[in-house]
Amino acid sequence: MCGIVGAVAQRNVVPILLQGLQRLEYRGYDSAGLVVVHDKQLQRARSTGRVADLTLKSADISGHLGIAHTRWATHGVPSERNAHPHMSNASIAVVHNGIIENYEELRTRLTAQGYVFTSDTDTEVIAHLVHSHYKNGATLLAATQASLAELVGAYAIGVVAADNPAQLICSRKGSPLLLGVGKHENFIASDMSALLAVTKNVVYLEEGDVAEIGLDAYKVFDARGKPVTRPVQISELTNDSVELGEYKHYMLKEIFEQPQALANTLEAVCNSQSLIPGIFGAEASAAFAKIDSILILACGTSHNSGLVARNWLEEIAGIPCNVEIASEYRYRTSVSNPNTLIVTISQSGETADTLAALNHAKAVGHAHTLAICNVPESAIIRQSSLRFLTRAGPEIGVASTKAFTTQLAGLFLLTLVLAKLRGKLSQQQEQQHLHDLRHLPSAVQAVLKLEPAIKKLAENFANKHHALFLGRGLHYPIALEGALKLKEISYIHAEAYPAGELKHGPLALVDKDMPVIAVAPNDTLLEKLKSNLQEVRARGGELFVFADANTKIQSSEGVHVMQMPEHAGFLSPILHTIPLQLLAYYVALQKGTDVDKPRNLAKSVTVE
Ligand code: F6R
Repeated sequence: MCGIVGAVAQRNVVPILLQGLQRLEYRGYDSAGLVVVHDKQLQRARSTGRVADLTLKSADISGHLGIAHTRWATHGVPSERNAHPHMSNASIAVVHNGIIENYEELRTRLTAQGYVFTSDTDTEVIAHLVHSHYKNGATLLAATQASLAELVGAYAIGVVAADNPAQLICSRKGSPLLLGVGKHENFIASDMSALLAVTKNVVYLEEGDVAEIGLDAYKVFDARGKPVTRPVQISELTNDSVELGEYKHYMLKEIFEQPQALANTLEAVCNSQSLIPGIFGAEASAAFAKIDSILILACGTSHNSGLVARNWLEEIAGIPCNVEIASEYRYRTSVSNPNTLIVTISQSGETADTLAALNHAKAVGHAHTLAICNVPESAIIRQSSLRFLTRAGPEIGVASTKAFTTQLAGLFLLTLVLAKLRGKLSQQQEQQHLHDLRHLPSAVQAVLKLEPAIKKLAENFANKHHALFLGRGLHYPIALEGALKLKEISYIHAEAYPAGELKHGPLALVDKDMPVIAVAPNDTLLEKLKSNLQEVRARGGELFVFADANTKIQSSEGVHVMQMPEHAGFLSPILHTIPLQLLAYYVALQKGTDVDKPRNLAKSVTVE
């Protein structure tokens, strides 16, 4: 989703802004732009192409203060006139992430005051609002604060004024923004990857904070305007972790990073002899003792990991668990139980729907909240009482891969900790699970060896327009995840069904042009699944089966079997995810789509 970079320095900031935008490209965008202050004038360049086009367009621009933006269209089509920064009277320039909900009302009022709008965006009202206060003598800080007080909605903003050559104002509420602190230069960005080339010192702004940033100093004010100190932290992000290296796409790199990502996520547990609630935060013991049920809230891939976890939590820990799409839960009148643990799952920790669902849950009386998230200091982490950090490292490809499998690892740990506290786990079972978890990274490594065979298999999909994914029990959510991966990056229409549902409707779709992909672990539902596969074959459907060893499912005419290792018990969903990720990747390559930046999608969905 939209990305912001800003800089005030003694050197020309244009290269810094452009490099920062390049690093934010993974978030998804459809236009880009920047503004610098030069000789008391605002110089702007905008483009509907990639950041590389903006680089060409800004070749003649330079300045020591600037703001830049990648836009993912919400209000108004992707076009140059809607691209940020937006300006007011050649005096004020603004970049903005988020949505201003009362922009129409503000636009009407500002138009009546004589302001002329040149875009269809909600952002332009911010530029005119700031101008309306600034022209009356307010400082840029005061003008921005007064404007923010009039806005309803979510935002991260950067503001500069033509006659203020060394001052940048920024603020965040509901959208991510951080400060990068350098020597005689300071920066702002949506995420730290944009600033790695210039600093590792980072200040995370809190909700409602406004910051005034100069060359040598910066001041932060809270939502009520009180000066506050926010700690400077050293970012652990490295350049290597956000660079492609030997890989053609981030998605492939991230698929192959899964053994290490899982090892990192499980490190604390695998090095100890037993499971302790403390891995979810200091107050976890006390909170877990009070809860009698779980409600998982998430979107997309993260929602799919919640669906797997429900099976684990109910079967192993014996605790009732519901899983809801965050954007539905937040608007539904539900019956709340204060003893329910709310678990939000999010790679980015900034997904607006998940964040809003968390806040809704708190508002209706849920005190126990746990975030399972990949980004430390993200809003979801900070607003939850308990937390578990997946340590997948930065995930750049829009299609989530290593974040999903590490979420599953975190959710399995949650299951085991709750099972132990509830007396459902013998010491022997605990040791067995710990043993299996220690083995997990190498088990994933073994599955990755299927890559050449899956690449070949993907050729069968080059001319397909639809696909059905089947799974049962613990693996139905894996079928959902496989279908989601395939549709988002290859644009093949893909649906997933619990295999037992086939005959209740979707079987009507099956013919020789409908590939059916089945997840076939060697578990208690195997024989039932085999019968479902017969139903497909009998209707001429072509089967692609990912089968564990010893399932006795053999390749034959119209049946392609991909042999997986031994059945991995409760951890099997993690292993069965890997071939479906690779399949989606190689089908997308066949189709020639933009794998890392699929059309219409954004990485971090910070608007509703
Ligand atoms: C799909 C995908 C999305 C995200 C969803 C939630 O590959 O990445 O479905 O899972 O937008 O994002 P997070 O996990 O950041 O809350």
